[in-house]
Amino acid sequence: MHAESDAFTARAGPAGRGASDSLIDGRSGLQSMTPRIAWIATPIVLALVLAGVAFLASNGGADPASVLRPDDAKLLMAGERIYIERCASCHGARLEGQPEWRTRGPDGLLPAPPHDASGHTWHHADDVLFRITKYGVAKAANLADYRSAMPGFEGVLSDEDILAVLSWIKSRWPASIRRQHDEINARQASQSAR
Ligand code: HEC
Repeated sequence: MHAESDAFTARAGPAGRGASDSLIDGRSGLQSMTPRIAWIATPIVLALVLAGVAFLASNGGADPASVLRPDDAKLLMAGERIYIERCASCHGARLEGQPEWRTRGPDGLLPAPPHDASGHTWHHADDVLFRITKYGVAKAANLADYRSAMPGFEGVLSDEDILAVLSWIKSRWPASIRRQHDEINARQASQSAR
């Protein structure tokens, strides 16, 4: 660094006509270097951003990979399609769930609950919903023996697909429920930061 600035001063030379000439040279030299600097700088900036993300995650900030985006129009389009294909058969085309969803059936399993405001999906923070959908209830809740009709979608849906479908579900909630869900997320984030 020091050597470089020395070299620059040396090239800039003493005051006078010669100096301004060499200054212009200096500038065009910098300009021709710009693409090279960009090549070097981009990975550095990326690395810094990733380090920041890792720092946030390790500090209890929500993992960005499971933060729902109920205002991302493109994501919601994918989410609606996935919901119809993969979830509606149990959770209902209008998110209404199965009848008597609070009562276990003869098989001992709970029916599928609604995903609308009348259910308790919105009582769970983003990352809990993400884990239930990806791994199923038993694994998400750490209850090895829990039997559930809810399939885990790991290997069937990508993480982005899971994010899309859950974001779409959230986008269907009334504003007041969405706000409460945002607060649940914030509370969980501040708890795990402690
Ligand atoms: C085969 C039927 C079935 C399908 C298909 C299904 N689910 Fe479920 N889901 C259930 C059942 C049953 C439960 C309740 C499980 C329990 O508590 O034992 C449940 C629970 C859940 C919960 C927890 C809700 C709460 O209130 O705690 C989430 C989140 C969920 N499902 C998301 C999804 C998503 C997203 C899809 C589609 C990608 C999906 N499910 C597809 C049957 C299904």
